[in-house]
Amino acid sequence: MPRANLISGPLVRGAVVLKVAPSILSADFSRLGGEVEAVIQGGADWIHIDVMDGQFVPNLTMGLPVVKSLRKVTNRPFDVHLMVMDPERYLQMFRDAGGDRLTVHAEATKHLHRCIQQTRALGAAASVALNPSSPLSLIEHVVSDLDQITIMTVNPGFGGQEFIASVVPKIKQARDLIEANGKGRPIEVLIDGGINAETARVVEKAGATVVVAGNAVFSQPDYGRVISAIKGQQRRIDAPVR
Ligand code: DX5
Ligand code: ZN
Repeated sequence: MPRANLISGPLVRGAVVLKVAPSILSADFSRLGGEVEAVIQGGADWIHIDVMDGQFVPNLTMGLPVVKSLRKVTNRPFDVHLMVMDPERYLQMFRDAGGDRLTVHAEATKHLHRCIQQTRALGAAASVALNPSSPLSLIEHVVSDLDQITIMTVNPGFGGQEFIASVVPKIKQARDLIEANGKGRPIEVLIDGGINAETARVVEKAGATVVVAGNAVFSQPDYGRVISAIKGQQRRIDAPVR
């Protein structure tokens, strides 16, 4: 049997490639639709939409009209990151606007399980985000209801921040928690903040399945080039190449 080896180019059965969700917070807002089209052209898997209320985080960014307008541009999954207090107030609105995956912060609601139940009842994927200092214990009793765990590797509020490396062990712990409590559900582990081609390798090794990248993508002239670098140029093949 031929030895598995490293190849670049088309994927073969069994290879799992890191998904990339560019954060439009770092895009050119004067031509947001075109920016979304360009990153999709460049290989983006999802679109990450950072909603901030100026309460939960010290910044105000975008909301329902942006989601609604961009929904006309693409049918790629919208991963809506609700950095808002009491997010249960907004779940239906962002689902109706076109959000496919709704992320609430465990630190922003008194009723996390109810948020997750509501999100799934709306037919959206339910995701919970943890700030860098927040322990996984906040979600250990709701893991089996989740579709995604979002691990912040920056303090939420802004794009272009430094990656917080001390959070990396939490990624592996999240994988272990999914193994133990996830009841076999296909739960995505998304890493959000300070991701580039280098830090993507670190978090991928720790068990991430999706990464958000804002500044790393939109600061570059060639989105396709940087997105494929974040995905990893070389891919291991599990099945022998015939
Ligand atoms: C921060 C946001 C992130 C941020 C990522 O509060 O949740 O999604 O926009 O931007 P980069 O990749 O530039 O750190
Ligand atoms: Zn985000």
